Amino acid sequence: MQLPPELRNAIARQLEGVSRNLLSERAARISAHYRNGGGSAHALRDDLDALAYAVARMPATYAAVRNVLARFPERLPALSPVTILDLGAGPGTASWAAADAWPAISSITQLDSNALLLDLGRKLSASAMSGPLREARVVQTSLPTPLPHSADLILLSYTLAEMAAPDIRALLTSAWTSCAGALAIIEPGTPAGYERILLARNLLIEQGAKILAPCPHHQPCPLVAPDWCHFAQRVQRSRDHMLLKSADVPWEDEKFSYLIAVRDSLFTPAANARILAQPQITKAGITAKLCRLDGHAEFVQIPKRDPAAFKAMKKKDWGDEA
Ligand SMILES: C[S@@+](CC[C@H](N)C(=O)[O-])C[C@H]1O[C@@H](n2cnc3c(N)ncnc32)[C@H](O)[C@@H]1O
Repeated sequence: MQLPPELRNAIARQLEGVSRNLLSERAARISAHYRNGGGSAHALRDDLDALAYAVARMPATYAAVRNVLARFPERLPALSPVTILDLGAGPGTASWAAADAWPAISSITQLDSNALLLDLGRKLSASAMSGPLREARVVQTSLPTPLPHSADLILLSYTLAEMAAPDIRALLTSAWTSCAGALAIIEPGTPAGYERILLARNLLIEQGAKILAPCPHHQPCPLVAPDWCHFAQRVQRSRDHMLLKSADVPWEDEKFSYLIAVRDSLFTPAANARILAQPQITKAGITAKLCRLDGHAEFVQIPKRDPAAFKAMKKKDWGDEA
């Protein structure tokens, strides 16, 4: 997966005349800051930092969000959100993914505290094919805060990672109150990201939300530490991305954890288990790690001597419904 061509071109225009050595230095400093648990507010000091962030991280966060949004049609094929709230929107990455998933979206509102990322986002979306993305309402504000309006789809993409637990609870409560349809939360695919997803899952279920994905049930999560629920999306690297990351392969695997919660009126229960790791093909068949409808997680063997089941599972990937 890669960024849409208009977004790639818009980033390339911002990069014209920018020293790649300087950009790499900035990206390395920012990435060390995030690795040490720091947030965007202190990581990014000027426009060049914001651009380095976008080159280094937008392809991967876009890919993770796009992967998550692709889970909607499996369960809610008729869903076509019209209004979007992108909370902690940064340069607008998740809004781009939503506009790609549902071209019929008619209004996008982006909230974020970071003026540098919002400014860059405005410049990038000026080249978008999507009118609602070009005309997105951009609000600089510190979350949690009462949200400006309700929306069919609310996005929280890599935002909770930068907030303390009481603020996460307050933000999720106000997001759920403003959610007319679905709330999609995407976090880094680390144990800490998964913990925040669990916190969100418990809080949203308490508030009456139904979990559409990844969990095919509403029982407590069956995974036990050191295991944690996460998924992966392969991302194609641009030349600049390879340079920034001193990478020698033209792709990276973005690991993410996520949750999609929906209003009861939209919900249909899952009919299939969720595949929690890349299925392994052996001489005898396929081993797949599943989260089942009854709330248990287990490894199952699909033997080659059951050709129909074997063939069906061979087409499946980590994160798919089994
Ligand atoms: C890692 S970036 C992710 C940006 C974007 N959602 C994406 O997926 O690329 C986290 C974003 O959350 C924003 N953020 C963190 N805490 C915030 C807060 N309390 N209020 C508003 N925005 C916040 C940051 O400014 C930053 O833009």
